[in-house]
Amino acid sequence: MKNPARRNFAHLPTQVEHLERLSGYLGGPSIYVKRDDQTGLALGGNKTRKLEFLVADAMEKRCKTLVSAGALQSNHCRQTAAAAAKFGLGCILVLNGEPGMAATGNYLLDRLFGAETVIVREREDRARVLDEVYAKAEKEGKKPYLVPYGGSSPVGALGYAFAVREFLEQWLKTDYMVFGSSSGGTHAGLVLGQRLFGYNGTILGISIDESADSLKNKVAVLASEASELLGSRINFAPEEINADDSYCKAGYGVLTDEEREAIKLFAEYEGLLLDPIYTGRAAAGLVDLIKKGRFKKSDTLLFWNTGGQPALFAEAYEKHLLY
Ligand SMILES: Cc1ncc(COP(=O)(O)O)c(C=O)c1O
Repeated sequence: MKNPARRNFAHLPTQVEHLERLSGYLGGPSIYVKRDDQTGLALGGNKTRKLEFLVADAMEKRCKTLVSAGALQSNHCRQTAAAAAKFGLGCILVLNGEPGMAATGNYLLDRLFGAETVIVREREDRARVLDEVYAKAEKEGKKPYLVPYGGSSPVGALGYAFAVREFLEQWLKTDYMVFGSSSGGTHAGLVLGQRLFGYNGTILGISIDESADSLKNKVAVLASEASELLGSRINFAPEEINADDSYCKAGYGVLTDEEREAIKLFAEYEGLLLDPIYTGRAAAGLVDLIKKGRFKKSDTLLFWNTGGQPALFAEAYEKHLLY
């Protein structure tokens, strides 16, 4: 297997913890959590693993500025801004949100890390403005490197392929891995890692914001392309990707009662923090699937806590977390 360029700055391996009280309360399978909210960069989260490869790629290409985009409360943008600061790179972020929103949560941290932020009102305008920002940075000699949404390029996805190897070295038997899936890089990395390192369980992504069909297509393409970076292409078909889109109907970033309930359950039974956009939604799905009997009582589940906690303190969410 080829050894792609990587900057090792994540705090790895992240811990695996048994959620004994929560498993008992739900009365279903044994739930474990992989603490990827503790990956060490700027309050942690799944993007650290991707950025180890993305930053290395940017630096190999002699780029000087990381350019990316996301929602105002993007965890990916916060971690990208921190990685840029750590490696002495510039950072420009295109964020969609209401102009004039207070600098709270992730957006506050983007600013603390010294990122330049460009705010657009509509999500649909983001891609166009990102292109403009990138072209301007290039013209100004800033040598931009485009970090795609969520860090989900084939390069970024490698982070989660190696996360599977890390997990298998810690823990052998788990019947399911469950996590929130949005831009698809985490999901793609996990399925690639499953194939490469021989994980026998089922990898199940809870979709955060799109249909299962489109997520499966995206993940299959990303996983196939990421495999090429390791030396030989593996073709993943959308049908072999597991994605559940039952929990994203409210729309991106809209906190539902079930998500609020799941966040409270993890907090009150385990002292664990989830976030209001991704892990809260994934956990709401997990709890619902357990209640519906989707898993056997004898099963063991691994829930990837992919981070995102700064959004708990964002203006848009903090007031809505408690009834
Ligand atoms: C906290 C958190 N969990 C999960 C995800 C989803 O990961 P991916 O974009 O790789 O699908 C994100 C994406 O931004 C995130 O911020």
